[in-house]
Amino acid sequence: MVVREQKSRVDLAVELCGLTLRTPLIPASGTLSKEALDEVEGVYGAMLPKTTTPAARAGNPPPRVAETPAGMVNSIGLQNPGVESFLQDLDAFDLGVPILVSVAGDTVAEFAWLCEILAGDARISAVELNLSCPNVECGGLAFCAGPASVEEVVAACRSAVPGKPILAKLTNEGVVENARAAESAGADALTVINTLPALTVDARARKVLVKGGLSGPAIKPVALRAVYDVSGVVNVPVIGSGGVVSGTDVAEFMLAGATAVQVGTASFIRDPQEILDEFTSYLKDNSLSAAGLTGALRGVRPVLTGGEDI
Ligand SMILES: Cc1cc2nc3c(=O)[nH]c(=O)nc-3n(C[C@H](O)[C@H](O)[C@H](O)COP(=O)(O)O)c2cc1C
Repeated sequence: MVVREQKSRVDLAVELCGLTLRTPLIPASGTLSKEALDEVEGVYGAMLPKTTTPAARAGNPPPRVAETPAGMVNSIGLQNPGVESFLQDLDAFDLGVPILVSVAGDTVAEFAWLCEILAGDARISAVELNLSCPNVECGGLAFCAGPASVEEVVAACRSAVPGKPILAKLTNEGVVENARAAESAGADALTVINTLPALTVDARARKVLVKGGLSGPAIKPVALRAVYDVSGVVNVPVIGSGGVVSGTDVAEFMLAGATAVQVGTASFIRDPQEILDEFTSYLKDNSLSAAGLTGALRGVRPVLTGGEDI
């Protein structure tokens, strides 16, 4: 009896930067509200609230969200109450799993300042750097616009928070070079990818509806490719993000090289518990463990290459 139970138990745990995550799922920053926390107990292996900034931000004016085929475009901006207020409310995110905190600043110094503040907070297990935000000292180009800028900000944060793992969150453009730069500057893991630049237009009103970032299933193949390419060239763990809506998607990201997988837009339309249940069934049906999946595609020739050498 006991043996049969043990056999049928699925091992969902993964190791990420010295942290044990009881499932490989993490909420993508900005997509899990405090109000929804009651519903996700047991689903996620780590918590990751919305990006925090040094001071409160109001975000962008509406409209801030538009539905698109297989996705959505958002221009919420980094609406948040600022780091001081964020830390006062952080206990709400304590579901008994590691808490990762996403930060963004306007300058390298602001990123480092945020990291210094978080360094001394024992509730926080790791820091995710949201490098998609504009660097005001570089004419508003994103911090992850190129390897030199990535290296500078990651190195500054590395010195500011020596005792906690740093995750560098990258966009798709130039992702391989930026991943190498982040790793060499001391990032302990890489989150790949953030939303893709996108636009929706209201033809009837002849105006731009939302200029922002595309997320959801529409970006999954792009994100998968980025995870596959990046995990092939770095020695730090890669966390997949982009278009996950099912347990099979989670498996695909892990097979492509992800150690853990973030669930974002999907949580607006599905109960993330269902995604975990599907992933658990996939592992069970195939007699696999979550940790055993990571990078299993490596070395296997793709069936269709689309004419490109991948
Ligand atoms: C409404 C919304 C808000 C977001 N806010 C943030 C944020 O504050 N910080 C961040 O790093 N990413 C943010 N993102 C990007 C997500 O974390 C995620 O990387 C992206 O949406 C791709 O994953 P998905 O297709 O599963 O949503 C946001 C995405 C959405 C849809």
